Amino acid sequence: MSKTVLITGASGGLGRELAGLFARDGYNLVLVARSDNRLYALKDKLESEYGVKVSVFPKDLSEKYAARDVFDYSQSNHISVDILVNNAGFGDFSAFADADIKKLHNLIEVNINALMELTHFYLKPMIESGGGKIMNLASTAAFQPGPMMSVYYASKAFVLHFSEGLSMELRNTGVSVTAFCPGPTKTNFSKNAELDGSGLLKNLNWSSCDSAAKYGYKKLMRGKVVAIHGLRNKIMAAATKIVPRALTRKIVYRIQR
Ligand SMILES: NC(=O)c1ccc[n+]([C@@H]2O[C@H](COP(=O)([O-])OP(=O)(O)OC[C@H]3O[C@@H](n4cnc5c(N)ncnc54)[C@H](OP(=O)(O)O)[C@@H]3O)[C@@H](O)[C@H]2O)c1
Repeated sequence: MSKTVLITGASGGLGRELAGLFARDGYNLVLVARSDNRLYALKDKLESEYGVKVSVFPKDLSEKYAARDVFDYSQSNHISVDILVNNAGFGDFSAFADADIKKLHNLIEVNINALMELTHFYLKPMIESGGGKIMNLASTAAFQPGPMMSVYYASKAFVLHFSEGLSMELRNTGVSVTAFCPGPTKTNFSKNAELDGSGLLKNLNWSSCDSAAKYGYKKLMRGKVVAIHGLRNKIMAAATKIVPRALTRKIVYRIQR
């Protein structure tokens, strides 16, 4: 019987790309995001190209009880989720003092709370069935503080640490957790985070969405706990272990502002 993958943030970017990779390999899908038109267009495309079954559940994950609603939807439709991909997320480039507090509140809801709650709801059934996989979208932002995007970087540090801690609790259960850490990747992320004019766009190399998604997919399937895409990003993440913290935050500020 075909296995089922639930992907949040499947309407574009890495989530959409990952959905294509799973469908190509015969997985049925549950797609979650706000843009219902894009989700239904992707459903039509993947069903006709790969013959898999795709369900769509449009949802704003910043809403209270959003994760519970997603879980209830899958339960009431008798969909058993074998792989959970917590991909939905966004950033915000701004000095914290000038930031839109509502946007930051929603960022915490989507990047942290929805991810944590969805993991909680789907984990028990996975443990009971003796297997499953969870991919949580962290970022290379998880490895150091990020002046001008401090809340986003801190949210990704949560995802990384949460995923690593959980992976230890789950050893011997058959369930793996992967914190996928792409570096800067060409998606709608930069537009949604309002990165125009920031040093991030000018100073960093942006990978293709296709290569980042393929890397994450491969590492998820192998049950890798921390998957950092790209050699340069791996070196930068490793450097944070030896470079003094005071210097690291100065460098990041210089790059980003
Ligand atoms: N691109 C990068 O440079 C980069 C690097 C490291 C990590 N990441 C992480 O990778 C993940 C995917 O981002 P991306 O680069 O693919 O960006 P993207 O193209 O902007 O895609 C973000 C996805 O998240 C969904 N989303 C955003 N807010 C949502 C909400 N309130 N409720 C439900 N879904 C929501 C969006 O769907 P709707 O708008 O339709 O709701 C969209 O499908 C994020 O967690 C991001 O932090 C990205």
